[in-house]
Amino acid sequence: MMSSPSSLHDFAQQVCDWQRQHGRHHLPWQGTTDPYRVWLSEIMLQQTQVSTVIPYYERFLVRFPSIQSLAQASQEEVMPYWAGLGYYARARNLHRCAQVVVNEHGGRFPATAEELAALPGIGRSTAAAIAAFCHGERSPIMDGNVKRLFTRYFGVHGYPGLRAVEQQLWALAEAAVEQAGADLDMGAYTQGLMDLGAQICTRSKPLCDKCPLAGDCEARLRGLQDVLPERRPKRVVPERHCAMLLLHHDGHMLLEKQPEPGLWGGLWSLPRYESQEDMEADCLARGISMNEEGRMATFVHTFTHFRLHIEPWLLEAPAGLNETRPREAWFALDELSQAATPAPVRALLDALPMKAGR
Ligand code: ADE
Repeated sequence: MMSSPSSLHDFAQQVCDWQRQHGRHHLPWQGTTDPYRVWLSEIMLQQTQVSTVIPYYERFLVRFPSIQSLAQASQEEVMPYWAGLGYYARARNLHRCAQVVVNEHGGRFPATAEELAALPGIGRSTAAAIAAFCHGERSPIMDGNVKRLFTRYFGVHGYPGLRAVEQQLWALAEAAVEQAGADLDMGAYTQGLMDLGAQICTRSKPLCDKCPLAGDCEARLRGLQDVLPERRPKRVVPERHCAMLLLHHDGHMLLEKQPEPGLWGGLWSLPRYESQEDMEADCLARGISMNEEGRMATFVHTFTHFRLHIEPWLLEAPAGLNETRPREAWFALDELSQAATPAPVRALLDALPMKAGR
């Protein structure tokens, strides 16, 4: 399953050599070892593509050219320079991080990945990238793209979001650096992994013909490029069924307050039954006859832990029937919108053919 130590030995140098010849060299945050710039780019590049980041990165640096200028600004002054990049917790952490660096580290980023990882918004992989680019530290990265490359090259099965699989990938990343020669250029290696992951070892249709690692790649050798990395296991959620009664009478609809604890506890919903038969029996007890014309389209509502197939029935109560049971109440159709109802019931009520005023 795992590549031999000799291919591990060559791995980092091959990535490095490829980066020098074929990797990206003109990104705006390359050609500097200024931790402020490298840090800013790495935070922006989390979950965001290079082409999107470039204009943001440049605008940001014009407005906040140093960590001091960023730390002195207010959150409100910073946010407009992030608006549109998404994942706004990143911007809040960025600002907090600048303040910590200025207030607690004298305005200079700490030099080691370990210390960097203790700062707000800097995870293990980002810390390693900054330390590698700025100081050549031999600490490996493992972001989403690199996980894909590693699962394929080393033939790692299992969903990489699982702790055990992720730990295996980190162990391989460490081994790859440890087995490489002492002269490994960590900046080129780190950038090479990013470039290969983003441009060659792509999620679909990887460009194996252009990959410097193809000769030893487990996925390539076994034709598993489409299988690795393994997808998140689909949660199997149970399917449940219910029938719902939309009983109306004289411009009113019968709602039932749901007991707590329980599904939709405390909300006003429709009388609900485990089966159509249960509903029929209950209608009989109420003196209502069910007829096929009342059957509405079935729909599915997805909860975290199960999927509920709902079979709604729209029936008219005979004149004179307006008594209610405990927890039940008649709501005027034009007041239904004010009742606290669960989303699928709300959708059902909104779609009624006979709404208020009609
Ligand atoms: N993604 C994350 N960091 C990057 C970098 N330094 N260059 C290109 N893409 C990246």
